Amino acid sequence: MSTLREDARLREHDAVMGEHDEIKCAHDGASWRADVLTIFPAMFPGPLCESLAGKALAAGIWSLKATDIRDFGLGRHRSVDDTPFGGGAGMVMRPDVLDAAIASVADAHDGAKRPLVVLTPRGVPLTQKRVAALAAGPGVILLCGRFEGIDQRVIEARSAEEISIGDYVLSGGEIAALALLDAAVRLLPGVMGAAASAEEESFATALLEYPHYTRPAVWAGRAVPETLTSGNHQAIAAWRHAQAADITKNRRPDLYNQYVASGAQAP
Ligand code: ADE
Repeated sequence: MSTLREDARLREHDAVMGEHDEIKCAHDGASWRADVLTIFPAMFPGPLCESLAGKALAAGIWSLKATDIRDFGLGRHRSVDDTPFGGGAGMVMRPDVLDAAIASVADAHDGAKRPLVVLTPRGVPLTQKRVAALAAGPGVILLCGRFEGIDQRVIEARSAEEISIGDYVLSGGEIAALALLDAAVRLLPGVMGAAASAEEESFATALLEYPHYTRPAVWAGRAVPETLTSGNHQAIAAWRHAQAADITKNRRPDLYNQYVASGAQAP
């Protein structure tokens, strides 16, 4: 995305939302509600206090509440995990503790039922399409896994959806939850506008972005590609399309094949 477009969107967004300096950490009637269940509640809202998501949070377009799973832990040490049946390394998060934490946020509201998402590297890969569907709903309940995993029974009993944000292992689901929330919140009405969501919904059948250039025309001995300064709009469009196709083919053959199968035409 170009800097100019981003700036224009920010100006448009500021005009819509005005100035808000207080971040709400309760639900206070916001229409899109996010609950996060975690043993590290201090990680929230974290970076979501900044930029568009932070302004939208302050404006009450969405709300975020982080609940400490340890509040439902057992015994003097408020334990949330135990050793795995069948042996093996690491600890497993207990189903009774997690279920109590889930109940404290899921059953408390009489409104629309929000999907329960478990962030885990073994989950279904997150897509823009799923993000858009979550943004179009009433909100989410995010359960952040830690340790070796989560007892399977609570995942099944609560019909949880397991989501991964990529084929790498984070030390827990918290950073994945922040990423999912950032992606969803920018699609909420009044945050970036309808244009953004329409644009991004086509991600699965579009090409990756072509390279961008701005002033100076020559920098550190590197000139901007000649076509871009030619003033020939048809040639510029064709150049950009060829670049986008090349980049997509090399970096994401899966996306490229979907693009070709969608029957999209060159400009
Ligand atoms: N927790 C640890 N790694 C993760 C990943 N890649 N996606 C979602 N949750 C995770």
